[in-house]
Amino acid sequence: MSKLSLSVLAGFLSTLAAENAKRNLIYSPVSIELMMGLVYMAAGGKTAQEFRNVFKLPENKSHVVESYRPVFAGLRSRPKVHILQMVNRIYVNHKYRLVPEFNQVVQKGFKAKAKLIYLDDPVRASLMVNSWISKRTRGVIRHIVSPNDLDPDISAFLVNAIYFKGQWQHDFAADQTHLADFHVSEDKIIQVEMMTLSASLFCAYLADLDAKVIELNYLNSTLSMRIFLPNRIGGLRKVEEKTGLLNYRLQKNDVNVKLPKFKIESSAQLRGIFEKLGIRDVFKPSADLNGLVLDSGAKIDKIVQKAFLKVDERGTKASAATGVLIRRKKSIDNLKPPPMEFVADHPFSYVIHDRDAIYFQGHIVEPQW
Ligand SMILES: *[C@@H]1O[C@H](CO)[C@@H](O)[C@H](O)[C@H]1NC(C)=O
Ligand SMILES: *[C@@H]1O[C@H](CO)[C@@H](O)[C@H](O)[C@H]1NC(C)=O
Repeated sequence: MSKLSLSVLAGFLSTLAAENAKRNLIYSPVSIELMMGLVYMAAGGKTAQEFRNVFKLPENKSHVVESYRPVFAGLRSRPKVHILQMVNRIYVNHKYRLVPEFNQVVQKGFKAKAKLIYLDDPVRASLMVNSWISKRTRGVIRHIVSPNDLDPDISAFLVNAIYFKGQWQHDFAADQTHLADFHVSEDKIIQVEMMTLSASLFCAYLADLDAKVIELNYLNSTLSMRIFLPNRIGGLRKVEEKTGLLNYRLQKNDVNVKLPKFKIESSAQLRGIFEKLGIRDVFKPSADLNGLVLDSGAKIDKIVQKAFLKVDERGTKASAATGVLIRRKKSIDNLKPPPMEFVADHPFSYVIHDRDAIYFQGHIVEPQW
């Protein structure tokens, strides 16, 4: 993953977080980056130059393909306890002709494909796209475009869907999940299903952010979820400026965790994100998509992303070891720091990441289940 473009994204994503301060948020930095790479593969001339300026992408496109290889290799080699599924496709209006080599290149490098589609009947076209997404995500994501999104004038659009289902290394004790207060804001409280876990986890107190962070590992995996919890109910904004940076040093300590169950699904139109970052030409009639279509006049009209994430105890039976709060044993553990109390009863932010990439990032201000 090109670290450079991720840092371009990091600044932007904290703005996005601020704009969405009042609602739950999920987005997938790795998908945004992949979509950019994919569109770059199709672009030529001035359109491609814009990508190189904004994202410092190399001129030689085979180097771009190479840089995504670790991500897809990682996706393939994950154990069956996890499902991290990412599907990408470019749909091109049937009135154009595809460049035959394009699919070879992107299939290999991006596990994506360009496909021609008839758009004369938007209802039928959206059914086609949605049933494909549903099939490829095993029914988790059933709906990504509606007929209103499509019309016969569209020349091309991209779809990206990503979802993740993992199993915790340390399960939350299902029989200890209980209703509890969650402070959406200083003056709004809701009831949530609060999960409980006591375990030795990587964690840290982040004085500079007035927050603390824990890392929950997924079983047999390099993937983990970091949760950033501000010390104050209204402290999320400050924390989110740094949520995407993975450079905090975490240390193992006992932690008593309380975390609400939550489920989040969101659709985003990435075109706006691209445009704000300075990628504009590819959406205009003047776009050069000579890597994708043989004809001129084609442009990208939409980039639609759907992400889905569910956080629960992981359905497993309560194991005796995980349910009990860790208390400091005075005589024996005098030298050990006291357990961290991590009570996520107010808005927090999260990332799901591994060595190579950030798969999901976002915040929860009002947990929904
Ligand atoms: C691009 O990079 C590949 C792999 O490193 C190399 O084989 C190829 O010759 C390069 N192409 C150009 C036009 O420089
Ligand atoms: C996790 O890894 C351990 C040791 O490598 C193995 O014994 C176990 O079966 C794995 N569990 C799952 C669910 O794959």
